Amino acid sequence: MREDDGRESMLLCSSTQSGSVIHSSPDRSIEQRRSWHTDSPSTGPDHRHQAQRTPGLLQRCFKMKIDTSLTMPLLPEALSQAGLQFSVATEEDFDDIMAMSKDIYGGLDYLPTRYTNWMQDANRTVILARKEGKVIALESVVVIDDGETMLVEGLRVAPQERGKGVAGVLLRFCSELIKAKYPDVKVCRLTRDDKLRPKDFEKYRIITKQGILLVRFRAEELKLRLSELGLSEDIHSSVWATPSNVGPVHLNHTAINQLYLTTDLMKGVIPNGTIIQDWQPFKVLRSNLDILFKKDIDWLVDDVSNPTVASLCTFPFRVPIGEDWYYLNIDMFGKDLNLARQQFLYHLQRHTSTLKGYVMCQMFLDPPLWKPMADFCHNALKVERVKEYTEQCVVEADVI
Ligand SMILES: CC(C)(COP(=O)(O)OP(=O)(O)OC[C@H]1O[C@@H](n2cnc3c(N)ncnc32)[C@H](O)[C@@H]1OP(=O)(O)O)[C@@H](O)C(=O)NCCC(=O)NCCS
Repeated sequence: MREDDGRESMLLCSSTQSGSVIHSSPDRSIEQRRSWHTDSPSTGPDHRHQAQRTPGLLQRCFKMKIDTSLTMPLLPEALSQAGLQFSVATEEDFDDIMAMSKDIYGGLDYLPTRYTNWMQDANRTVILARKEGKVIALESVVVIDDGETMLVEGLRVAPQERGKGVAGVLLRFCSELIKAKYPDVKVCRLTRDDKLRPKDFEKYRIITKQGILLVRFRAEELKLRLSELGLSEDIHSSVWATPSNVGPVHLNHTAINQLYLTTDLMKGVIPNGTIIQDWQPFKVLRSNLDILFKKDIDWLVDDVSNPTVASLCTFPFRVPIGEDWYYLNIDMFGKDLNLARQQFLYHLQRHTSTLKGYVMCQMFLDPPLWKPMADFCHNALKVERVKEYTEQCVVEADVI
């Protein structure tokens, strides 16, 4: 359906115990549209038309108009959101998005760095919600796992609009949109670091949990500290070796493909068959590795023939905490503390050798490793811990 063709189509909502079920119209081509908006309940001919088709919904639902020609009734709990407009984000929306994202994720917002790439990502849809023309919420969905998973990312609502149901409406709206655009999508995944409520467990299955260790330091100071500890600038030097291993092995793409795709060796290392990289959970599939290969990441493993610990580290990127602030994201898999520590030091060494400025380093690791690793950061590296133990939770729900 073209944006201006004036045809009408329906998306009807009803509630179930596990959340919402949305029955869509035969015309599922709404992805071609660039903007949608919600209306108050009693205006316009669409509403009467809707009532004739679904009288039971009349009392319960407001309608959501899509480009004035499509209608979608909102769930009852979202009634307060009548008046939202939805649109596909463009490059021009960047400043408005940043304006409502101040202090988000404790200053570790990756969006300023990633936004341009997001706009060019063929499998990604970024949706904005506006109220009275002003951007008040964003959600991004990228389709991964050979087209079977919609991964929800970047969700944010402007501070003054939180707690009113905006995120819920946006999540449901995007889910419908993605189902229409990618009919093979079967599950929705997201990564959360807040405390899940009993209601969330009705909705989601837990795929895996990782502890989150957040530390900060000045790159130049850590570099000094590492050399005091005898860690040479040459990351291939023997200082990384222990009696039982030769030190971390840096994998290139060929080695990664071989290890992850042609052997079962990583099964016991990565949690629940999932490579989590900077909040994104990927199944071990060639298509996902191809996505990961487009990013600047260091892949380490302790031993290619018998891996126990593996880690992925982003190259440092700027975050909007202030001038000269960088973020280093390390995803650590495996349960051996010594090997994990060794890989952590390798990543720090590699990335602080030339960096100037402050670094927020966030490491995701097996929960029992959190405390000893936090102690190591404090006692040996003398870096400052930013927060106490929190968890990253990868959750999944079936797309109905
Ligand atoms: C988290 C945030 C988006 C919630 O927005 P909100 O409009 O106040 O949330 P709502 O009032 O719609 O109620 C919560 C709904 O959002 C969902 N939600 C809350 N936090 C969520 C999260 N981190 N990821 C996905 N969904 C989340 C809840 O499950 C709930 O869904 P339901 O309506 O199906 O039960 C908002 O507080 C925010 O922008 N916080 C700062 C950014 C942030 O932490 N984003 C989370 C990314 S991990």
